[in-house]
Amino acid sequence: MSVGLQSVPRAPGAIPLLGHALKLWRDPLGFLKSLRESGDLVRVDLGTMPMYVATTARMVHEVTVKQARSFEKGRLYDRVRPLVGDGLATASGEIHRRHRRLMQPMFHHQRIAGYAEIMSSRARALAESWTPGQRLAVEQVMGEFAIETLAATMFSTDIGRRAVEAVRRNLPVILKNMLIRAASPTFLDRLPVRANRDFDAASASMRQVIDDVIASTRRAGGTDQPDLLSVLLAARDADTGEALTDREVRDELVTILFAGTETTASTLSWAFHELAGHPEVEEQLVAEINEVVGDRPVTIEDVPRLTAIRRVLDEVIRLHGVTLLMRRTTESVQLGDFSVPPGVEIAFSLYALHRDPALYEDPDRFDPDRWTPERRASLGREDFVPFGSGNRKCIGDTFAWTEATIALATILPRWKLRPEPGTPAPREAASAMAHPDRVPMTVLPR
Ligand code: HEM
Repeated sequence: MSVGLQSVPRAPGAIPLLGHALKLWRDPLGFLKSLRESGDLVRVDLGTMPMYVATTARMVHEVTVKQARSFEKGRLYDRVRPLVGDGLATASGEIHRRHRRLMQPMFHHQRIAGYAEIMSSRARALAESWTPGQRLAVEQVMGEFAIETLAATMFSTDIGRRAVEAVRRNLPVILKNMLIRAASPTFLDRLPVRANRDFDAASASMRQVIDDVIASTRRAGGTDQPDLLSVLLAARDADTGEALTDREVRDELVTILFAGTETTASTLSWAFHELAGHPEVEEQLVAEINEVVGDRPVTIEDVPRLTAIRRVLDEVIRLHGVTLLMRRTTESVQLGDFSVPPGVEIAFSLYALHRDPALYEDPDRFDPDRWTPERRASLGREDFVPFGSGNRKCIGDTFAWTEATIALATILPRWKLRPEPGTPAPREAASAMAHPDRVPMTVLPR
């Protein structure tokens, strides 16, 4: 059977003109989770614009893998393009394929091993900077850690120090305002209000400094450092021998900064929160770290042996993953019973998918043991996709897990992070990730 889009069930609760905008705005995560009750493809109205949401693992797999060639990135990405240009996350078609090929070597195992040394020394410096009884805003501390670590792996030379500083100063301002921008109509960007001024100034300043650093590094004939900037400057297309232009290099660096910081920071903050609530799990991790690492700095070789940490990270990302992703059809496709014409916006929520009770028993419960090999075997490959899948799968997945594993393995044997008494549990705020709003904790020696 094949029917047109007019037969796609509409989510309940739409109101004239606004559609489902209020529901999405008031409780985005609850609303996204509720959609599966209406069908495997569900219509949601953003104001008067219809968006179709794929709600099952099978449907998401159709969009991201099986029929990926009939899709480009959707509206969400159009709105960030002015900032990140045609970087890997926003580009489509041939440009995307070319850049993906050029960037892949930045994330090869050997390169990650180099970044791991930077991650390990940054994590040690962080752990050594704390004092017993100190109070931390964990979400901020992890945000700074993720930004500084990524910036340091990008620009490891003296010339690059200014860029690290500019990223540290400006990126939080940009990230804070970005999702609001992506979801708002374009004309609001030009209103002379504080949020727009801050956003524009921060993005102009960050791009300027990165441009200067790229130009200086190029003039100096590149660097002999194994940092991300050098790898991008040296990249050559295997077929044509062409290099990336300075502008393309900058767009890729800014894309990586966007894609790689909030995601990692949110995962680490939730991990500390969940571990504080499950001290027995934390004890297991500490025992494993003591056995595998002991007192020396954590290295890349330790990462695959820290399997209990991996189970915790998988469980954290299952519970608190990427909120909403989008595609747009470039030609007609068949999705389940529905025939979908070109130019239609299709969205999906990994967050909602990973809490589907049809796939996960007691889906809202933190239970790292679901990731033991025996229990994990009951899940299909399409059912757990925290980094997406298909040709647009996250290029930084190993980078992110290496960084998060090294951070936990460095901090946990030294310190216990515990919530301040009387503070409410963090709430999930929907941005790119379902990140925690506030995580105030006290540092106690272990
Ligand atoms: C816990 C951490 C992370 C999570 C959960 C995550 C998740 C994702 C997801 C779900 C996508 C696919 C988006 C889509 O299908 O539309 C993606 C793409 C991407 N991610 Fe990540 N990411 C993380 C960390 C990182 C890091 C550390 C980097 C870089 C160092 C990075 C760079 C990218 C890039 C460049 C893309 C676009 C890939 C393409 O379209 O070819 N991510 N990420």
